[in-house]
Amino acid sequence: MPVVLTETRGRVAVITLNRPEALNALNDELMDALGEALLRFDADDRVGAIVLMGGPKAFAAGADIAVMADWGYMDVYQGQFITRNWETIRSVRKPVLAAVAGFAFGGGCELALACDVIVAAHSARFALPEIKLAMLPGAGGTQRLPRAIGKAKAMDLCLSARVLDADEADLYGLVSRVVPDDELHGATLALAERIAGYSLPALMAIKEAVNRSYESTLAEGVLFERRQLYTRFASEDAHEGMQAFLAKRPPEFKHR
Ligand code: CAA
Repeated sequence: MPVVLTETRGRVAVITLNRPEALNALNDELMDALGEALLRFDADDRVGAIVLMGGPKAFAAGADIAVMADWGYMDVYQGQFITRNWETIRSVRKPVLAAVAGFAFGGGCELALACDVIVAAHSARFALPEIKLAMLPGAGGTQRLPRAIGKAKAMDLCLSARVLDADEADLYGLVSRVVPDDELHGATLALAERIAGYSLPALMAIKEAVNRSYESTLAEGVLFERRQLYTRFASEDAHEGMQAFLAKRPPEFKHR
């Protein structure tokens, strides 16, 4: 059985992590397949948004501890652990939505944090429990979590291995929305379809600008945003969007 399943539904691509026997533990085979699927859909003109989901018990329970247990320094250094295939998601320009049910622990939580939108089922549980292994979050957790929920909450989670339920994760701003478990797939797909119906270059500009806020001063970020805004005036879709509004008709975007 493939460790990653893919399908398209209209303009939405769905990638499902599929190692249920190991709670979707993220080994190289899975991360390679995930990266390949992400890049393939990012390059596919028929796709406007990508949904990443796990199973009902686990989105993903982290990096594969069974594989890591015997590694030494040179294995991870030469093998470029994390850098080699976990960073691919950062290069995806289209919106990526995570649909999270069950455990999103360790690398699974970090994978969700690397997505643009997180829709959580009531059963979702988020934790960075690497401290229990005398490790540390190594796929961006110590960097993305404080940016998402602030230092005080992030330190608590990383230092104590505390588990957040979906409502706490929502309260802290870790997730975008919380829905009942039986509505997770439908709600995430509907949201992805809605997003994929907008102009793709505008979506990509928004994603790039919001992500830039992580990596720049406010002044630089605002300048970057202004440049993106000016670029919109060179876009057929933006003119179509504004003309359609004024004519009280639905827009017909060319670049979707
Ligand atoms: N790696 C490898 N196998 C894992 C795994 C992981 N991260 N998480 C779960 N599994 C396996 C278990 O070993 C078990 O396999 P067997 O049936 O062969 O024994 C199977 O998945 C089911 O797991 P459990 O029996 O433990 O299920 P549970 O419901 O009792 O507990 C859990 C669920 C609380 C998530 C527990 O499995 C757990 O704590 N997992 C580890 C979580 C963790 O520490 N993640 C961080 C990994 S390090 C990391 O991610 C580093 C980084 O930043 C990149």
